[in-house]
Amino acid sequence: MRKILALAIAMLMVVGLTSFASASEDPIKVGVCIYQFNDNFMTLYRTELQRYLEEKGAVVTVVDGKNDQAEQTNQINSFIAEGVDVLIINLVQASAADAVIPLVEAAGIPTVFINREPFVDDPSQWDNVWDKVCYVGADARQSGTFQGQLILNLPDQGDVNGNGAVDYVMIQGDMENVDAQYRTEFSIKALTDAGLTVNKLFEQRGEWDQAKGQELAATALAQFGDQIDVIFCNNDGMALGALQSIKAAGRTVGTDIYLVGVDALPEVVQLVESGEFTGTVLNDHIGQSHKAADVALELAGGATPEHTYTVDYVGVTPETMEYVKGVVGLE
Ligand code: GAL
Repeated sequence: MRKILALAIAMLMVVGLTSFASASEDPIKVGVCIYQFNDNFMTLYRTELQRYLEEKGAVVTVVDGKNDQAEQTNQINSFIAEGVDVLIINLVQASAADAVIPLVEAAGIPTVFINREPFVDDPSQWDNVWDKVCYVGADARQSGTFQGQLILNLPDQGDVNGNGAVDYVMIQGDMENVDAQYRTEFSIKALTDAGLTVNKLFEQRGEWDQAKGQELAATALAQFGDQIDVIFCNNDGMALGALQSIKAAGRTVGTDIYLVGVDALPEVVQLVESGEFTGTVLNDHIGQSHKAADVALELAGGATPEHTYTVDYVGVTPETMEYVKGVVGLE
């Protein structure tokens, strides 16, 4: 009996000591800068990023750059003054990396850039930047190629009006961003690589924004009407706007026009499944936010990161539908 009592007391002491040790350890402080809260995809991303970091015991502050680089640079300076352990930054302007990296380096605060690949003037410089800085993102060429393949997989390969060419409208994101540049280029390249003839009717910037997507699609539909076979949008937000204009113009996706986006916003995945939207590509905000958070916590603990971490896009097809629904939380 005495032995059992002694053992129980010893165990209680161990438990007590361990909980004391963990209670006395300061939680890791993470500062997160998002380029703009008013963005469908980045809202899903930042919500999951914060949830996951908090689940890992970090103390997280997330701030809205309001699409203004000067404002974001001030926010970075405030986080530095506050003494956060690590920063996660979704730059407003990729080209601001040249100014931001020296700031975080001078303060000794490791930094994970997300979503917008930092652009440094001299690319060889990126290899020489401070080794506590890295990028977590995705290869936008892949997303463009998947968009093109979604059109190639259609029975008429996107030539609804049967004139021998894919006549298309391109609604672009923010063109300083490689995501917008590559999606614009590689979606069409997938078609021409497969030997199709393409005809660009209209190409304009909608800055990732749903209302602008709606406006531009309305303009294109008014100008080109039945000539349009496909509306490509660099993201789902703008495609949701375009869908409203397509309906308002009396056209029907899947019957007399096609519409593709990127991101796999949950509402778009549902529309793809019900046939009201031609297709989208999963921009895996769960995979990307978890990777960014894991790397950030490792950096705060003193690790040195790889230069770049890339998470794959997934084309949303009947074969991948169940998987994608699982990722975006539709099941
Ligand atoms: C893209 C995404 C867009 C927008 C943009 C912001 O990856 O597809 O919807 O969120 O990032 O930089």
